[in-house]
Amino acid sequence: MSEKSIPEQTLAELGATTPERVVARFAEVRERFENQASGHASDPERWRVFVLSWTGRKSGVLSLITDNWLKPASPDLKRVVGQELNKLKAHVESVLAEREAAMKASAEQSAAARDKIDLSLPGIERELGTRHLVRQTFEELQRIFLSIGFSVVEGPEIETPYYNFEALNIPEHHPARDNMDTFYIEGARSPHLLRTHTSPMQIRAMEKQKPPVRIVVPGKVYRRDNPDSTHGYMFHQIEGLAVDTDITFCDFKGTVEYFVRAFLGPKVKTRLRPSFFPFTEPSAEVDASCHVCGGSGCRVCKHSGWIELFGAGMVNPAVYGFVNYDPERLSGFAFGMGVDRFAMMKYGVPEVPLLFQNDVRFLRQFS
Ligand code: PHE
Repeated sequence: MSEKSIPEQTLAELGATTPERVVARFAEVRERFENQASGHASDPERWRVFVLSWTGRKSGVLSLITDNWLKPASPDLKRVVGQELNKLKAHVESVLAEREAAMKASAEQSAAARDKIDLSLPGIERELGTRHLVRQTFEELQRIFLSIGFSVVEGPEIETPYYNFEALNIPEHHPARDNMDTFYIEGARSPHLLRTHTSPMQIRAMEKQKPPVRIVVPGKVYRRDNPDSTHGYMFHQIEGLAVDTDITFCDFKGTVEYFVRAFLGPKVKTRLRPSFFPFTEPSAEVDASCHVCGGSGCRVCKHSGWIELFGAGMVNPAVYGFVNYDPERLSGFAFGMGVDRFAMMKYGVPEVPLLFQNDVRFLRQFS
């Protein structure tokens, strides 16, 4: 194309002085339109520019022809220029409308294909899970304690050494830390660790509330144990604490016996053996007569007739000093139970890993 596009020059400048030459010029313009129209349809932005270049009011080709060809045409050519211009206009408009309709239709078609819903396809089945055996056991234990006036509170799994050890009367170099000194969190401004038992919540609860206190604390605890059939790096505990002005060892023993019967059955007997925890004094291990053989000896109780259940004791008065409780006036008891162990014992699960492998074929058995 010359640097000046055809319609910017007048017909006289183009040498179109006869009707035939006028018709020939219009034919040229029309041919150019055809060529351009076929090239622009794919890209919407380029298409818009193309449409404007032909129909734009100020400098579209059709306007230029009106201004530069029709208006200045000599009287003898005016008629043919007008006719040719009308034909060209009609052609351009119909081609543009046709193309636009086709573009719209194909866009609608691809949107419809995208949105099409096949009602014959099968639906998405979402399988319902079951409550995990450990969760069920937690709920069973909590129900028992709720029924005798305890409430349930929870606490942080990331603890400070103060709550996990010191305030529980376990000083820095005490040997009782050895099997618990574990999983410290690096990078924290002050030392933190994953709690090794739920006992820190004894301290947090007593700091927060005045006596009487009657709470159980369910939760996860962590220890640096090598995983095997009876150990993982994490297990679940439920802590208990009762503190008031008149709690005696008899209350402790009665509560423990009530609990053991409620959990393992009315025939099960309870026995206390002396033990040691820095935060209880005296301390005891609570055993139950074997719920499987009734005490005569079997594989479950390793032929002893007894099963070790949990650690407990009367709250060591030293602990009250850390929470501003008056040891002269107050007394209480505490216990800490291994929930996974209980679940395994009661439901005959042979190995800890079974609980945490998320095998629904195993877990569904307990729903
Ligand atoms: N915290 C102890 C443990 O994890 C258990 C315990 C709790 C013992 C409360 C006595 C009183 O081994």
